[in-house]
Amino acid sequence: MKNLSDRVAVITGAASGMGAAMAWRFARSGMKIVVSDIDGDAAAATRDALVAAGHDAIAVRTDVASPDDVDRLADVAYAHYGAVHLLCNNAGVVPGGRHRLVWEYPLEDWKWSLDVNLFGAVHGIRSFIPRMLAQNVEGHVVTTASVAGLVSGAGSVPYSAAKHAVVRVTEALYAGLRERGAPIGVTVLCPGLVNTRIYDSERNRPAELRAAAGPAEESPELKAIAERLYADAISPEAVAELVHRAVLDNRFYLLTTESFDGSIRDRLEAILERRNPDFASLLELSRRDVAEREQPR
Ligand SMILES: NC(=O)c1ccc[n+]([C@@H]2O[C@H](COP(=O)([O-])OP(=O)(O)OC[C@H]3O[C@@H](n4cnc5c(N)ncnc54)[C@H](O)[C@@H]3O)[C@@H](O)[C@H]2O)c1
Repeated sequence: MKNLSDRVAVITGAASGMGAAMAWRFARSGMKIVVSDIDGDAAAATRDALVAAGHDAIAVRTDVASPDDVDRLADVAYAHYGAVHLLCNNAGVVPGGRHRLVWEYPLEDWKWSLDVNLFGAVHGIRSFIPRMLAQNVEGHVVTTASVAGLVSGAGSVPYSAAKHAVVRVTEALYAGLRERGAPIGVTVLCPGLVNTRIYDSERNRPAELRAAAGPAEESPELKAIAERLYADAISPEAVAELVHRAVLDNRFYLLTTESFDGSIRDRLEAILERRNPDFASLLELSRRDVAEREQPR
């Protein structure tokens, strides 16, 4: 998209972190903002702050795991503003708890992660793309995946598997829109660690998906490392700046750091060379990411 002024942006998970930062960044470009989040009070607070700063915004409580909720979000956005030009499928959650191996996760973690991280994006595409195509004007879709959707290994599987699928779905969206010759660009945002409230995702877990035994506690060492890593990670505002640029430049793959490049390359080369992979842990890669930022080359 070249012209953002007076256009309409719908952002899911916009009450916190990267979603909120995108709402502010695109509002400052003159866009009208539909602030959507499962936390209705926090979404309303973000809308109030935007409006108080002179921007045009509405808030819609939406659980992206629900296709009906996302359809309603589209209904409200189109009823209020008459069009949608930028859709940011951004809402996401990381199930908490100690490091587990793939056979150890409760099914509730799988269901919650896939419902929000994968189906949230699928619902956004299904509810908005047909209406955006019917408008036949310039538009853009940003989907927030993660570097966890590009690297692999033993840990964080319900989250990483969902993000791998999100990358695949977003690639299909990009290819499908090109096949159609539609004037809608696509970006798959794959951040490294960002200082947001993602580490506190459990606040949004639906009651029916609480595992019978409750979420297992992290080891104190893992918790301390993760908290420090998040505190030292880049700001959501810095990511929103990159997203803004990617929308203007129509850039598809958007990574916020080069720290994971080696692991992405190793995985792809192992596939192409038909050799067994040697995966580093996501925690170790994140630690390297933050350390490299502290000592810029
Ligand atoms: N923070 C990181 O290090 C990091 C790295 C890579 C990718 N991501 C991804 O970035 C995206 C944004 O997360 P963030 O880091 O800003 O975290 P955040 O927790 O600060 O914000 C996420 C927002 O999503 C909302 N949300 C949660 N479940 C929802 C649902 N079912 N429906 C609608 N909204 C829901 C939350 O209420 C919250 O406002 C997520 O997709 C996340 O997976 C985060």
